[in-house]
Amino acid sequence: MRKNIVAGNWKMNTTLPEGIKLAEEVNAALKGFSAKCDVVICVPFTHLASINNVIDKELLGLGAENCANHVKGAYTGEVSAPMVASTGATYVILGHSERRQYYGETSETLREKVRLALDNNLTPIFCVGEVLEERENGSYFEVVKCQLEEGLFNLSAEEFGKIILAYEPVWAIGTGKTATDDQAQEMHAFIRKTIEEKYGKEVAENTSILYGGSCKPSNAAALFAKPDVDGGLIGGAALEAESFMGIVKAF
Ligand code: PGA
Repeated sequence: MRKNIVAGNWKMNTTLPEGIKLAEEVNAALKGFSAKCDVVICVPFTHLASINNVIDKELLGLGAENCANHVKGAYTGEVSAPMVASTGATYVILGHSERRQYYGETSETLREKVRLALDNNLTPIFCVGEVLEERENGSYFEVVKCQLEEGLFNLSAEEFGKIILAYEPVWAIGTGKTATDDQAQEMHAFIRKTIEEKYGKEVAENTSILYGGSCKPSNAAALFAKPDVDGGLIGGAALEAESFMGIVKAF
């Protein structure tokens, strides 16, 4: 059966010393507690190797927030999937709406990134989600289906089985405006149905689908209680060990 997962997305926050301290705090909190979900932190590239040295990977998974769509070469400033993997990280967020919106990431680039992540044994946490206008004009199911089809449905069933999905309505990210648990459940069920149509029931049932967008300790339990919500991708509330752990404990 699919896993429940709470993953932090630190975005462009924390200096290296701050990041190490936060990772140590989360790691320490997990030691004294038997979490009912997998817990992962996705951190800036600059922090990966150092954080890998201070956490217990049995308790806390480590991931990057992006990787390049090339293996190596003359791509100044980029960080490749093999580089990420060489730090000890085993996850990578791909297709976050901020990457799509501010850095022009297309489904074509994302297919390349997913391929490279899988080739390097990184588990992609692949994000989909509609913007406010698409929520309001009712095209949100179509938009999310298209993101899945274009970004992932070139994969074989075996490859798709390695993907974690995150539904993040863009209008709920960092805005304090969470999707209601019913809105999240409706979309997660739709995503699972879409996966089933392409890859069959077993693959669909085994895929973890996380919710992201202003998830916090006060709303996490209601979201995670929904049958198709298998955890969360957490931005702002992952920047303090206490609030992040509050969400982990919602399971
Ligand atoms: P948020 O971000 O929790 O701050 O809304 C979630 C995300 O963008 O992954």
